[in-house]
Amino acid sequence: MSESYRAPKGVPEYLPPRSAAFVYVRDGLSYPARQAGYGYIELPVFEDTALFERGVGESTDVVSKEMYTFTDRGDRSISLRPEGTAGVMRAVLEHSVHRGGLPVKLWYQGPFFRAERPQRGRYRQLQQVGVEAIGSDDPALDAEVIALADDAFQGLGLREYDLEITSLGCSACRPAYREILLQYLLTCDLDDATRARAAVNPLRVLDDKRPEIQAQLADAPLPSSHLCAECHQHFAAVCGYLDSLGVQWVNNPRLVRGLDYYTRTAFEFSHRGLGAQSGIGGGGRYDGLMESIGGPALTGIGFGLGVDRTLLAVESEGISLPIPAHVVVFGVALGDRARSRMLSTVTRLRRQGVAADLSFDGRSMKAAMKSADRSGAGWALIMGDDEVEADSVLFKDLATAVQTSVRLDELDQWVTEHILAPDGTDSGQPPRRSTP
Ligand code: HAM
Repeated sequence: MSESYRAPKGVPEYLPPRSAAFVYVRDGLSYPARQAGYGYIELPVFEDTALFERGVGESTDVVSKEMYTFTDRGDRSISLRPEGTAGVMRAVLEHSVHRGGLPVKLWYQGPFFRAERPQRGRYRQLQQVGVEAIGSDDPALDAEVIALADDAFQGLGLREYDLEITSLGCSACRPAYREILLQYLLTCDLDDATRARAAVNPLRVLDDKRPEIQAQLADAPLPSSHLCAECHQHFAAVCGYLDSLGVQWVNNPRLVRGLDYYTRTAFEFSHRGLGAQSGIGGGGRYDGLMESIGGPALTGIGFGLGVDRTLLAVESEGISLPIPAHVVVFGVALGDRARSRMLSTVTRLRRQGVAADLSFDGRSMKAAMKSADRSGAGWALIMGDDEVEADSVLFKDLATAVQTSVRLDELDQWVTEHILAPDGTDSGQPPRRSTP
């Protein structure tokens, strides 16, 4: 038996027809950000390891346990990006994007890599759509970012999800809270590794999912009970804006995000149909991140939405996505003369802007019509000896079975009138937001 290869463990692949749903969901998740004037940023898939250690935080699982790190040929330590925010900050700083006016608003999409234990919805190569808005601490910007994520989920038709938000405090109130939490954790029965973790960032322990740890944290002091007046005010303003935008949210004072850079507003979207891996998106403010990687004191807020999990959520709600047909016209040729003409006719249609495919390998009429049906095309373009003689083609409307003979010298005009959309435009994604 010949050797067979498999994709690496924990890496999802999307093949037709499901890949069309994947692309639809990914485009739907970025649609509100694109509508709101966010510019696209294409980032490297690997960066210096130190960027993630400093930016995301060495106490996080993401950095300490889950990074794919290797030494490159120049003896540098490189890591596949586990998330996008640190890379965006690095790029903004490196190219002085922040000098061109604030806030800088960017969006990105693509694969990220975390060596997690694979299970449904938890992958080692995961896909995110993210946004980062840098250089303003206006609470209206927090609300804008959260509403963009909510609109993205709503636009895809999702309803069975919850948005939780909290405030984690700032550089003014966090140090005092950190001390209070550390003192509390000293009274708990923690293993050495957890104690060491607490010393680096005690908030990480609040995020520990093990029941024996959670049982000891029932009375732990929470960040939201130790906010300074500015953080209180900021959070109240964010909540007020969200209400005015009609975004449904609940306050979860126990919410702790898995990355170290968060300050003030933090939020998470979770879907009720997904089981253990229910987080479909999350984000928050990171007001000290830019400075921590050597940049100016620029605040920021953003989110990452999980494309893989959002697709699972769409499927769990049984939403049928309005995915346009692959091709609009499918060419069926009968006989050698027609076959040699078919490719040029179909190419002519494609150049006119019509998505078109055709059958190959001299299939029978029956087999070719089956392919036409399977393609999802609305029209079959049929050509046999009679059509070749008459310099014409036959268009069959596959929904009504009505056939129309069209002369080749009138093809472009007929196609413009009958097949191309009147406005000839494609907005990228239909807005589907409706009130739940
Ligand atoms: P995150 O919460 O680590 O945040 O990831 C965002 C989303 O990515 C999650 O809510 C989830 O949907 C998806 N995701 C994460 N890990 C996996 C996995 N192993 N398999 C499948 N999906 C996964 C961030 O990455 C931050 N950079 C978000 C952010 C941007 N905060 C501020 N700006």
